Order: sequence, then C-alpha cells, then structure tokens
Amino acid sequence: MNLLRKKTLDASRVSGEGKLNKTLGALDLTALGVGAIIGTGIFVMTGVAAAEHAGPALVLSFVIAALACALSALCYAEFASTLPVSGSAYAYSYVAFGELLAWILGWDLVLEYGVAAAAVSSGWSGYFQGLLEGFGVHLPTALSGAYNADEGTFINLPAVVIILLISYLLTRGVKETARFNEVMVVIKIAVVLLFIFTGIFYVKPENWTPFMPFGFHGIMNGAATVFFAYIGFDALSTAAEEVKRPQRDLPIGIISSLAICTVLYIAVSLVLTGIVPYQSLNVSDPVSFALRFAGQDMIAGLISVGAITGMTTVLLVMLFGLARLLFAISRDGLLPKAMSSVNSKTHTPVRSTWMVGVVIAALTGFIPLDRLANLTSIGTLFAFVVVSLGVIVLRRTHPGLTRGFTVPWVPVIPLLSAAACAYLMYNLGKETWIGFFVWLVAGLAIYALYGYRSSQLNGDSNR
Ligand code: ALA
Repeated sequence: MNLLRKKTLDASRVSGEGKLNKTLGALDLTALGVGAIIGTGIFVMTGVAAAEHAGPALVLSFVIAALACALSALCYAEFASTLPVSGSAYAYSYVAFGELLAWILGWDLVLEYGVAAAAVSSGWSGYFQGLLEGFGVHLPTALSGAYNADEGTFINLPAVVIILLISYLLTRGVKETARFNEVMVVIKIAVVLLFIFTGIFYVKPENWTPFMPFGFHGIMNGAATVFFAYIGFDALSTAAEEVKRPQRDLPIGIISSLAICTVLYIAVSLVLTGIVPYQSLNVSDPVSFALRFAGQDMIAGLISVGAITGMTTVLLVMLFGLARLLFAISRDGLLPKAMSSVNSKTHTPVRSTWMVGVVIAALTGFIPLDRLANLTSIGTLFAFVVVSLGVIVLRRTHPGLTRGFTVPWVPVIPLLSAAACAYLMYNLGKETWIGFFVWLVAGLAIYALYGYRSSQLNGDSNR
C-alpha cells in the first residue's frame, strides 16, 4: 500500500527552503509557451508527415492533433491553477494517484523533455550547418554529426555547443531567460507569418488534389506525427512556482499559447501543401524548401534563420522544464537531494540544470537522435492521459479546493481528452512502443532500488 502513498495538498505546496523566485506573468508564460511549441515539428516534421502520411490533408492532421491538445490543455490548466507547484504532471499525480504513478509519470516526463531536447538540437544543428554552408563555411565531417563510422562523423559539435550554451543561460536566472526568450519568440512568429504571407501568392489549388491520397488512416498517422509540433504548452506548468499569480496566469498562458500555434500551423500546412506537390516535401527543411521551390531564395534564407531561432527557444523551454522537474522529484526524495539545491545568488537550480545540459549534450553529440520525435510524443501523450484522468480523480477526492480554472463538463471533457490521446498513442507504431516500455521498466528499477526507500514520505506517510 506504500506504493499508493499520496502527498497531501499542504505537503505539495512548498514552504521555506528550496524556494524559487516568483517573477513570471501571463505574457511571459504565453511567450514561454509559444517558445516551447513552434520548432522542429513545424519546421522539419511537416515534410515527412505530408509526403508519407497525410498528403495535402496534412491540415486535417494538424486540426485533429490540436483538438487532442486543446482537451488536454484544459485539464492541465485546471491542475496548474489548483496546484501551482514545480513538477507539472508529476506533482499532480503525486496528489491524485500516489507515489508510484507519480514516479512513473515523472520518469516519463524526463523522457519527454530529454529526448525532445536531444532531437531538437540535432535538427538545430542541421539547419545551422545548412546556413553556414550558404556562407561557404563547412564544418569538418568528423564534427558535423552523431557518431557514424560509415559516414566518418564522430560528434555533432553544434548540437553539443547549443545545449551547453542554453544550460548556461538557464543558470543565470529566470527573468533573464524569459526576456531572452521573448525576443526570440517575436522573431520566430514574424518568420512564420513571413512564410504564410509570401507563400500564399504561390499557392496552386491543384496541388491540393487528391486531398487525401492516404485516406483516413494516413491522416491519423499524420496527426500522431505532427503531435510533436504541439508539445511544449504542458512544459509551462513546470514553471508554476515561479509565476506571480499562478491561478490566473497559468491557464491564460497554457490556453493562449496553444491557440496561437494552432492558428499558425493550420495556415502553414495549407500554404506548404499548396506551393509544393506533397510527394516532394520529404526534405529536412520543408518550409524553406517551399519558398526556394517558389523562386524566393532570399526569403527562404530568412526563414532558415527563423527556424534556427525557433528551435533555440524550444530547447530553452525543454531544458528549463527538465531541470525544474528533476528539482521537484529530488525535493521529494525520489532522486538524490543534490539535484534540488537552489543557488542563493541566481535562485535557479544550478546543479540540476548543468546535469541535464551535460547528459543531453552527450546524447545529442554521439547518438543520432533526430528520429526520436515519436518517442517524445508517446511519452507526452501518456502524461496527457494521466493528467486528464487525474482531473476526475481530484474532483472526487478534493471537491472543496480553490480552483482558479475549471474544466467544463467533467467527466466528459477529461474522458474525451484521455481517449483522443490514447488513440494517437495507438497510431505511433510498434518500435516507439517498445522504446517506451524499455524506458518505463528502467524507471521502475530505479524506483525499486532508490526512490522507494529515500522518499520524503517514508516514515511520514500520514502527512
Ligand atoms: N513542439 C516542439 C517542436 O516542434 C517540441 O519542436
């Protein structure tokens, strides 16, 4: 029964030591959300999704994935406005379902943010090298990609450097990070709008027929693939302890960042498949490619710069979320305590930030991770399912709580949300499922050997 021990609400609200600085407002959060969302998904993965899964019906894949995300975003908003603590879905599960599921979910989120950051930095490196080549600069082959004896690559140096640079930035302080992020987000949105408003003049409606070359099945596979493009709004709730008025600002940040990105994605996917016949979109930089296809080389170059900027902000929020998550898990005793110490000058968890940075830099430097987006998605969808069901549970177990935001029509909306996410998981292929199970089994072993014994709740389970 100890596995089901739960944290009480008071215990999950932090007091005293280990406190983070409260500096973020609704606008910071929306920018942080958009910063996390628009990245590799829209700039890289739309190409494969259109060419191999959905065809011009890519726009429907985006709409379906957005619906699943919107339902889950409502559930996240309720939790975040009820339990504004670091750790997001992990912390919510600790209260709603107990320690074992909380650990599983925490471990699952480590997968989400860690693998996402590794994959995105890999994509970043590809765009960055493409841009350097535009200026005639070529990196030595050995430093240009993850280890691959056949191709003569040894380490993906740009990916390692960008991860370490962002880790450094994150240790400097949250307000500084948010400000840097806001500048990058403005550039990123401007570039997406530039694509839409330039590309729209080159759309040939005949490229939209046949509209659904791979049928309904293809659209659903496409939805599971482009789901990756929406990941990130959930990472906002990891910043809850650093938000000035979390009960009001978190729901605003979560829902508005998702809404902004959905509108942009729908427009981008329509324009993209309207410019280029879908069969030709299977390239590593489909958005720039489309404008080159239209003869707009200069603007295509600008778009590449924007894509690099866009991916940088995704990395920023993923690393931010991961460091905060490890901070929260370690504060609960499920991981070593050293990971939850907060630096007295910058008020940031310096140690867990560096640890995360170094581990991900090593992964992205030596292992080709750019194909791991699906693994990220399955981990995220699993978290969405648990959070959605958690809303129903918490309404039953803690009906009297002050909720800054409430999901309408409970339990219908949370159940629909869980079902939609489970269905997208189902569409993610066998290999992804195997990877996911291996990760979960490793997590259970760590819990059995370490977390179970060193948990804060040990000897104090009636808190
Ligand atoms: N949504 C993020 C991206 O597309 C993970 O890069």
